[in-house]
Amino acid sequence: MGNFDKIVNLCKNRGFIFPGSDIYDGLANTWDYGPVGVELKNNIKRAWWKKFVQEAHNSFGIDADIFMNSKVWEASGHTASFSDPKMDCKNCKTRHRADNLIEEYSKGKVNPDLMTNEEMEQYIKDNHINCPKCGKSDWTSIRNFNLMFSTSRGVTDESQNLIYLRPETAQGEFVNFLNVQRSMRAKVPFGIAQIGKAFRNEVTPGNFTFRTIEFEQMEHQWFCKADTSLKYYEEFKKKAMDFLLSLGFKQEHLRYHDHDKLAHYAKAACDIQYLYPIGWEELNGIHHRGDWDLSRHQEFSGKSMMYLDPYTNEKYIPNVVEYSIGADRLTLAVMCEAYDEEILDNGETRVVMHFHPAIAPYKVAILPLQKNLSEKAMEVYSNLSKHFMVTYDEAGSIGKRYRRQDEIGTPMCVTIDFDTLEDNTVTIRDRDTMEQIRIKINDLVNYVNEKIKY
Ligand code: GAP
Repeated sequence: MGNFDKIVNLCKNRGFIFPGSDIYDGLANTWDYGPVGVELKNNIKRAWWKKFVQEAHNSFGIDADIFMNSKVWEASGHTASFSDPKMDCKNCKTRHRADNLIEEYSKGKVNPDLMTNEEMEQYIKDNHINCPKCGKSDWTSIRNFNLMFSTSRGVTDESQNLIYLRPETAQGEFVNFLNVQRSMRAKVPFGIAQIGKAFRNEVTPGNFTFRTIEFEQMEHQWFCKADTSLKYYEEFKKKAMDFLLSLGFKQEHLRYHDHDKLAHYAKAACDIQYLYPIGWEELNGIHHRGDWDLSRHQEFSGKSMMYLDPYTNEKYIPNVVEYSIGADRLTLAVMCEAYDEEILDNGETRVVMHFHPAIAPYKVAILPLQKNLSEKAMEVYSNLSKHFMVTYDEAGSIGKRYRRQDEIGTPMCVTIDFDTLEDNTVTIRDRDTMEQIRIKINDLVNYVNEKIKY
């Protein structure tokens, strides 16, 4: 946990992530991205879009509404069964997830996903599992609580006006399958991707932004013929892993984890887990979904979800291979992976975020050696900021300014000195090696662009 606490502190002090509603003592499990964090998260989302939409030959992006017709959630099964098994402590009146209690008690050795509610109750009773809040073992029976947030539409709140905040972005992709296919003249196999907010009324054990009630998902549904679906499932497993490696994750910090329990319609499902400072945890999922989603929407909407193959005249409902990753959970993993403490020759500790330059919040920091060089420095700043995110700092010693940039992972620092006024050259310092070279101001844009390529 050591580094985790340090990362949480760094996030607050260096403008990555602040507690939500901070001046009102917060709201549990809500977080606000600050000026540095929003750049990092946006860059991560851009990198994902580049790999899964821009560079993918047959994938199309959409941006569907958060609110959807309530029938969507009946068709998807969320209204009936998107719930967590929860029980209340009769002594201190706090509510807890029964599956979490078992997982924590058994240190992951018992898998509550494979148990019925009755079996979970019995296990908790037999092992006298105590309430994490008050330490007593006096539980109500388990009840399933739906995770969807609901609100009412219009001026009256009658039940027919009940609408939900979407708990996943995937349904926007399913319901638009034929809209995208027809408008883009897409041929199966093809993909639909989107990035957007999702909401779940989770009881969470904290862990910063790992599990929150409002979060962003980056989801990609691949529509294909049934007999090719397992091949594509394997391809997406690899593509999901390659994407993480391309962001700079070390292979030994990632692993596949097959699901123990499969949905009745699925042939396979797995997560990629990341070794967070809190242990191995799910980072993303790859799910073989058969033709379940489109079939259910056909059934509930009464509209055909059939695809007509223009070559064979075959009519069928495609299978889906889903790849889903949380943008916030990935941002947290990126920060954990990038965090480093280096002991320097002079014995000082340098905290440095080794972000891949393409996702670093700022690409360059402009640092005039002295305040009376600020006019020239601002000229360089104005020029570079037309091309990428640049930050400017003239306060404090140059050493302290380098440290501040290291802590937010700025890959290059440009110092303006008196020679700059004479020969239009600057010193550029590399974050990771700390090596410095002299370069012409006119060459800066090309130099930086080369370094931040992705
Ligand atoms: N459409 C499939 C789906 O939503 P999921 O496994 O429930 O599958 C996919 O979620 C990903 O979304 C997870 O792997 C995780 O990265 C992210 N995620 C899910 N719930 C989250 C939460 N409460 N807070 C942050 N991220 C979450």
